[in-house]
Amino acid sequence: MEETTPRKKRILSGIQPTGTFTLGNYIGAVRNWAKLQDEFECLYMVADLHALTVRQNPADLRRNTRDAAAMLLAAGIDPKQSLLFVQSHVPAHTQLNWILCCNAQFGELSRMTQFKDKSAKHPDNVNGGLFTYPCLMAADILIYNADLVPVGQDQTQHLELTRNVAQRFNSAYSDTFVLPEGYTTKEGAKVMSLQEPTKKMSKSDTNVNGFILMSDDADTIMRKFKRAVTDSEGIVRYDPAAKPGVSNLMSIYQVFTGKDVAAIEREFDGCGYGDFKVAVAQSVIDALAPIQQEFNRIVADKAYVDSVLAAGAEGANRIAGRTMQKVYRKVGLMQL
Ligand code: TYM
Repeated sequence: MEETTPRKKRILSGIQPTGTFTLGNYIGAVRNWAKLQDEFECLYMVADLHALTVRQNPADLRRNTRDAAAMLLAAGIDPKQSLLFVQSHVPAHTQLNWILCCNAQFGELSRMTQFKDKSAKHPDNVNGGLFTYPCLMAADILIYNADLVPVGQDQTQHLELTRNVAQRFNSAYSDTFVLPEGYTTKEGAKVMSLQEPTKKMSKSDTNVNGFILMSDDADTIMRKFKRAVTDSEGIVRYDPAAKPGVSNLMSIYQVFTGKDVAAIEREFDGCGYGDFKVAVAQSVIDALAPIQQEFNRIVADKAYVDSVLAAGAEGANRIAGRTMQKVYRKVGLMQL
């Protein structure tokens, strides 16, 4: 992956290795990553440094990081086409993080809703990393001059901050960073909790019935969907404001069957929610089964996963190192 001109547009995205991915992670982000590989030059990253903003058990974090890489491979990331790497294996991310922290304002970081949510959730550990988290994310993106960042809707505020900080740096020190655009799909940019459908599906939910994990077996998936909160109307109709539960299930079904909302409404006309929930669950089970099988095969071969990550880190370090040199020079750090 050399920086030749003209180059394909470049993509960077990342995911935290905090346990197994949820169906939200898959639908909102990971599902799209594999699809984008033909058209774009892609870099995909396991964001282990970001995970440290919440206290982690070191052994679990190590295992989860390798598992996350294996899951990304199982979900179709092809290491022959794309760079797959672990964030902490590319030290330039933390170097650029510092420079960007010095170009981000306290006020704008204070406005980040994820910071506010996470501080409320972990009042005993509102650490500096949690506050400057978006600067590290900006560094992840800007260090590769990524053009596009495929993420779920919850990351759009961080992307805006990335653009603002990049623009500020560019006008202070001359054009350096590409201003990245977000890439979200129409369906599935925000998968909601199955138990509280006005809240995003999240693995930190204390109610395990609220989320589906990519590693959940068929019975668990079926049970969780059967328990999904709906409403008393009994009609499968898309109306996110009035019927958030049913609409969320319809969006999930739409992603895996390719049917549009009108077709789904017709399919379940007069059926009630029982059949509908079973059909949604089955579409998810069918979509996840081959990925789970691949995951089990790949994760058993530690040496293979590590070799992919080593090659990914090498490629990523090469690009990131060049950007970092340029940035250090521009801000006036002495070079020998
Ligand atoms: P993370 O690990 O929380 O989530 C990974 C991706 O999954 C998306 N996502 C969802 N999409 C739809 N519905 C949901 N319920 C849902 N939950 C999660 C997220 O939007 C994300 O795209 N800070 C990032 C990781 C990161 C990153 C980056 C992303 C670090 N550096 C650089 C892009 C570029 C995060 O914590 O994602």
